Amino acid sequence: MKEKINEILQEVESFATDSLDKLEEYRIGYLSKKGKIPALFGDFKNVVPEDRKEMGQLLNELKNKAQSKLNLLKDEITTKKETSVDDDIDLTRPVEFRDVGTRHPLSIVRRQILDIFDRIGYTVAEGPEIENDWHNFSALNFPEEHPARDMQDTFFVSDDKTPSAEKIALRTHTSSVQARVMENNKPPIRVVAPGRVFRNEAISARAHCIFHQVEGLYIDHNVSFADLKQTLYYFAREFFGEDTKVRFRPSYFPFTEPSAEMDISCKICGGKGCKICKYSGWVEILGCGMVDPNVLESNNIDSKEYTGFAFGMGIERITMLKYQINDLRLFFENDIRFLKQFEGAF
Ligand code: DAH
Repeated sequence: MKEKINEILQEVESFATDSLDKLEEYRIGYLSKKGKIPALFGDFKNVVPEDRKEMGQLLNELKNKAQSKLNLLKDEITTKKETSVDDDIDLTRPVEFRDVGTRHPLSIVRRQILDIFDRIGYTVAEGPEIENDWHNFSALNFPEEHPARDMQDTFFVSDDKTPSAEKIALRTHTSSVQARVMENNKPPIRVVAPGRVFRNEAISARAHCIFHQVEGLYIDHNVSFADLKQTLYYFAREFFGEDTKVRFRPSYFPFTEPSAEMDISCKICGGKGCKICKYSGWVEILGCGMVDPNVLESNNIDSKEYTGFAFGMGIERITMLKYQINDLRLFFENDIRFLKQFEGAF
């Protein structure tokens, strides 16, 4: 009996493999019910009583050693398998979840705005962010050296010595796309132009040097101020809700005459007065007006035959009002905790 135990012990100790199949053979051969070790336990009843204690101990030791060898080899083989690139992928392993990104609130609102105008026949137009003086200013009735150019602090790409008419700059508004659309199309024209604009302003909760606008332009026979008002009233109700009221205040822009700014009834307090609307019950959301005949003529559209209206709104401002966001900088910081709040929105 003792000899048999030692013989098997040696076999167990010298056994080595890196294959799971061989290891399974080992398990069956030594440890399974029909294996060599359980067979020895079967022979135990034939051992004379004086030797039983010793044999019992030896047998148990053998069994434990054989079992730990099995465990050890199994661990070694499987970890090797996991780290080696050549091996098959283990399809039974649990999935590692990755965070899926969310749509940016400005993208959500831009899409909503374009959608509303799409329903009344507006198509989308685009223009370059780096723009020349003509499209950003001159074609829009900003005379050279006119103080109206200072309404918008411009980032120039050209140096100071470049004559004004040849200057290249980052566009200060999406109104530049109006000029490009008129240049390339004949009326009727009905477009909305979303895009990024740039102004040399200090960054704060209410201002940023990069922001987004949507421009609108409609030119046809007999377009009137009443059309302008109805269109923007429709937009305000679609976007902010049925019960939204609007009002128009006279204003000034070089490219429109007359010009106006449109306010909507404050969504936060319902018009009663709060901090957001500075206790007036109204908040401004866009600039608009009838396209100045000079602008039509500069862009080869006969101002005796055609009239039009235009409007421009800031996407950040509208998003802040809609979602009650009080700091513009949040849009540019990409803080996941902020963006996550728009999860699921489209
Ligand atoms: N471009 C103007 C701005 O950035 C906004 C604007 C006002 C656009 C009136 C228009 C308009 O088309 O008619 O401040």
